[in-house]
Amino acid sequence: MPADDPTRRYVVSAAQVRLGYALGGIGAVSLIVAVLILATARPQGAYVTVDATQHEAALDRADAELRGFDVRDDGSARIDIEHAMRLVAERGTSAVNGGAAATTAAASDATTDAAATTDGATDDATTADATSDATSADASAAAPPAADGAALYAQHCVACHQANGQGLPGAFPPIANHIGDLVAADRTYPVQLLLYGMAGPITVDGTTYNGLMPAFAASMNDAEIAALLEHVLDAWGDRAVVGDGHEPYTAEDVAAERAESLTNAQVHERRMALTLP
Ligand code: HEC
Repeated sequence: MPADDPTRRYVVSAAQVRLGYALGGIGAVSLIVAVLILATARPQGAYVTVDATQHEAALDRADAELRGFDVRDDGSARIDIEHAMRLVAERGTSAVNGGAAATTAAASDATTDAAATTDGATDDATTADATSDATSADASAAAPPAADGAALYAQHCVACHQANGQGLPGAFPPIANHIGDLVAADRTYPVQLLLYGMAGPITVDGTTYNGLMPAFAASMNDAEIAALLEHVLDAWGDRAVVGDGHEPYTAEDVAAERAESLTNAQVHERRMALTLP
């Protein structure tokens, strides 16, 4: 007898049985999908294992951040101030920890005092020796007979003080139309500033700065620092301020200050004692 015989009555009709099968099928599929989702989901709040490629990618990202400043078409560079500060702090710490400063300072300057300088700077781990960077090895290995001040400026100073020497108001003071006054006030002060850096509030052209000027004792040798100072005097017309009486900086001038072994706070004290226009 056919199932849909109208004379017979069933507790469950044929249509309901089909519906039951359909619902059961949907339920089974949903269950499988749910199990798959659970099986492939990342565990929440737990560590996810990474393979070597992912690890390298993460390192690359961190590395890219270290070089994180962009150079505009006109040759000036732009860098986030906090990023710059952090960068200096990080480089300083790693250089001191790795002992790189001791080797490169001694190599870059063959005076017995170089090592003493570095020791002194190490006492003030976060600041005094803040600039020993990856380039220090290059600087000492390939110290040119005549150092190129413009190239050194582009390498070591431009990120903060900008290609036009104007700095960034409130963050990095200008060097243009300022270095001449500093040299005229005391020719040894700019040498100490570059060797040991500076920390503490200063005022330039009515703007207050309270940042960290990095130390370059470990990343430039004496001839390089001398050449760099002569370059910044020329670059924006500051030589007119110091006049003809100015004796060009020599490696010997820098060596004499390197022997002083100051902290960046002592450089700030010297700065405060200067009489500037
Ligand atoms: C990481 C950023 C940074 C770099 C790189 C840097 N400086 Fe500075 N510089 C500063 C800051 C910040 C100050 C102000 C320090 C303070 O507030 O005590 C400063 C101050 C100065 C001053 C003014 C000092 C004064 O007494 O008025 C001169 C000149 C100077 N820097 C020259 C240089 C030269 C040359 C280089 C390259 C060798 C250089 N700086 C690299 C951040 C930097």
